[in-house]
Amino acid sequence: MNSVTVRVPAKVNLQLAVGPLRDDGYHDLVNVFHAVSIFDEVTATAETGMSVRVEGESADQVPEDGDNLAIRAALALAGHAGRPYGVNLLIRKSIPVAGGMAGGSADAAAALVACNELWGLGLPREDLMEIAADLGSDVPFALLGGTAVGTGRGERLTSLDVAGTFHWVFALADGGLSTAAVYAECDRLRQASGELVAWPQAAEALLAALREGDAEALGVQLGNDLQSAAVALRGSLARTLDAGREQGALGSLVSGSGPTCAFLARSAAHAGELAACLKDAGVARDVITAHGPVPGPVVV
Ligand code: C5P
Repeated sequence: MNSVTVRVPAKVNLQLAVGPLRDDGYHDLVNVFHAVSIFDEVTATAETGMSVRVEGESADQVPEDGDNLAIRAALALAGHAGRPYGVNLLIRKSIPVAGGMAGGSADAAAALVACNELWGLGLPREDLMEIAADLGSDVPFALLGGTAVGTGRGERLTSLDVAGTFHWVFALADGGLSTAAVYAECDRLRQASGELVAWPQAAEALLAALREGDAEALGVQLGNDLQSAAVALRGSLARTLDAGREQGALGSLVSGSGPTCAFLARSAAHAGELAACLKDAGVARDVITAHGPVPGPVVV
């Protein structure tokens, strides 16, 4: 086998409850991840060295050197196997870069699956999960897909039962936001307000809405503790979120650390209408529709 291609989805967070800052610089979370139908594709081709090329949406903003998370994933896997494997990774991007939809984590997860296959390692998903957790807090979910609740720094996952399909609209912003900067702003805002930071708890009503496939109830329960920090750093997001609510979204929130905004629709048709209204309102660089949950990385 000379080359393997893996398709991998983006995620949106349905609940992101952020606990106090830990000694290791991370925060304990309750993070309800939901994989949606916006996909990157990663092709791994056998080669002697390690290299990466990025094509597509905002490709110029993705590093093509050792900072690329997908190459770091391939190196970590070769290290785990204890062999000097090589690979060229071609990443075709559709997931917004630094958009709060875990695009970098998705590419890393796809690289793990593709190289595991290409190099004939046959490692089980549990082994890939351990390597994934060392690469970044969102990489384990990117390997899993579907809908899951993450605790710890987001890497300890339990899959959730979800009835049916939810329909989404995503408003993409110009440029990205740094995840670390958004967490730091969240800490700063909390300190400034003297807010007592509670231990993060899963919202039972949100889990019930997912189990029952109840979009209306889910819309009310969507929540993201990083949202005020993302809006503080990028004031224009307030107008984007307002526009979605005014146009009849069942719920709206910043996706992860932003700046992508997510809007829940009643149906695929309603998502199409909402997307058209948001485009007309001129509150985003681009507006796309997607559905979830979708499975994790798939060899195509
Ligand atoms: O794990 P990852 O490298 O994706 O995290 C990026 C940054 O986001 C971390 O350096 C940290 O500042 C912040 N973070 C956090 N708590 C988490 C996850 C991420 O503070 N649970």
